[in-house]
Amino acid sequence: MKVLLVGSGGREHALAWKIAQSPLLTRLVSAPGNPGMAALGEVRAIGATDVAGQVALAQEIGADLVVIGPDAAVEAGVADAMAEVGIPCFGPTAAAGRLESSKAFTKAFCARHGLPTAGYEVFGTAAEARAGLDRFEPPYVIKADGLAAGKGVIIAPGRAEAEAAIDDMLGGQFGRAGSRVVIEAFMTGQEASLFALCDGEHYRLFGAAQDHKRAYDGDEGPNTGGMGTYSPPPALTPALALEAERRLIAPTFRAIAAEGAPYRGVLFAGLMLTPEGPKLVEFNARFGDPECQVLMLRLKSDLLPYLHACATGRLAELPELEWRDDCAICVVMAARGYPEAPLKGTEIRGADADFGPEVVVFNAGASVGEDGVMRAAGGRVLNICAVGPDLNTARERAYAAIGRIDWPEGFYRSDIGWRGLASA
Ligand code: GLY
Repeated sequence: MKVLLVGSGGREHALAWKIAQSPLLTRLVSAPGNPGMAALGEVRAIGATDVAGQVALAQEIGADLVVIGPDAAVEAGVADAMAEVGIPCFGPTAAAGRLESSKAFTKAFCARHGLPTAGYEVFGTAAEARAGLDRFEPPYVIKADGLAAGKGVIIAPGRAEAEAAIDDMLGGQFGRAGSRVVIEAFMTGQEASLFALCDGEHYRLFGAAQDHKRAYDGDEGPNTGGMGTYSPPPALTPALALEAERRLIAPTFRAIAAEGAPYRGVLFAGLMLTPEGPKLVEFNARFGDPECQVLMLRLKSDLLPYLHACATGRLAELPELEWRDDCAICVVMAARGYPEAPLKGTEIRGADADFGPEVVVFNAGASVGEDGVMRAAGGRVLNICAVGPDLNTARERAYAAIGRIDWPEGFYRSDIGWRGLASA
C-alpha cells in the first residue's frame, strides 16, 4: 500500500514509525515530514495546508491512502480535496472537522443532541461577553471559537483576568479564530482523553491517555500543546470509558452522520471526569500530540489496515484492536522559552543514541543540517517515549534516556505520569 502522511511533528513521526512496521506498506511519503520521518520513508517539502500540493503529490505517487496528522490540514479541507479526486483519506472533511475547528459549533451540536458537556454561551463582541460573565461563576472558562494552536483556552480566576482574556481574543489575538468566544461553566475533576476511530458509520474505541498541559512541574506555568502523556490513565476506568462511549462517542458519530457530515478518521474526546460522570471538555478531529505517541507504542495490531478501513467504510470487517499490556510514557523536551518564544538553533547531542528496544525518540521539531548536527527548530523539539510493564518502569526508562541527551538549552517536566503513579 502506498501512503501519503500529511504533517511534520512528533505525532506524525509516531504515525510514520508505526505505519512503517506494516507488512502492507510498499511506499511511505511524508509531507512536509521531518528528519525523523525521513529515516522511515521519503519526505517532500509540501506544507500540510497546501491542499492543491498535497493532492498533486498523492496523485503523483499513486497513493492508496492519505493520512492526515494535524488539525490545520483537516480545517483546510485536505480530506474534501482527496475525496474529489477519489483517493481514500484517513481524516475528516472540514465539515465533520468542525467538531474541533469551531467550539461554538460543537457546543451547539452537544446541546442539539443532549451530549454531556458544560453549560455555555457564545459571544461576538467584547461588551456582550463582559456582560455575559454575570451569568457564570469564577473561575471563568474563556475559549476562542477557532483553532488557536492549543493557546485558545483561558481559565481566569477572577473577573479582571476574564475580561482581559475576552478583550485579547475578540481584539484579534488569534485572528479569525477569535472572532467569537465561548464562555463555559467551570467543571471539576480529572481530565483524560479517549480516542475512537470511525469509518463514517462504524466506530472502534482506540485507547486513552492523560496529557500534561502546563509547561512546568506541579502543573504550573503557561498552557502548552502538551508536555507529556502516559497511557493507560487509571482514572479513566473501564466503567467510565463505557459511559463516555455510550453517552458521548457513539451518539456523536451517529449525529454528525445524520447532519450530513459522516466522520472518517480519529476522534479525540478530551473528557472531564466529573462527579456526575464523564463530560466533554473538547473534541479534536485528529490524534493528540503527544497522546498519539503513547498510543502507537502500546498498539500491537498493524495500524495501516485500520486507517485504510476508516477511509473506505470497512472498519466493521476488521478484528478487535490488540494492545500491549504495557504502560507507555512520553516526555516532551522543549526549547527554553517555549511556549512564548522558544530559542531556536541550539545544538542537541545524543538524541540519536540507541536507548534500547523499550525507548523511542520521536522528532517533534528538530532539524538536522548538512553537518549532521541536530538543532532545535521549534517549541516542542523531542519526544522521549518508553514502555514498561508498569508506569514507573516506563517512566524510569524515559528519564534515563533524557539523562543521556546533552541539550543545555532544552527543558522538560520531571513529573510526567504523576497522577497515574499516585493512583497505582
Ligand atoms: N495534546 C493536546 C492536543 O494534541 O491537542
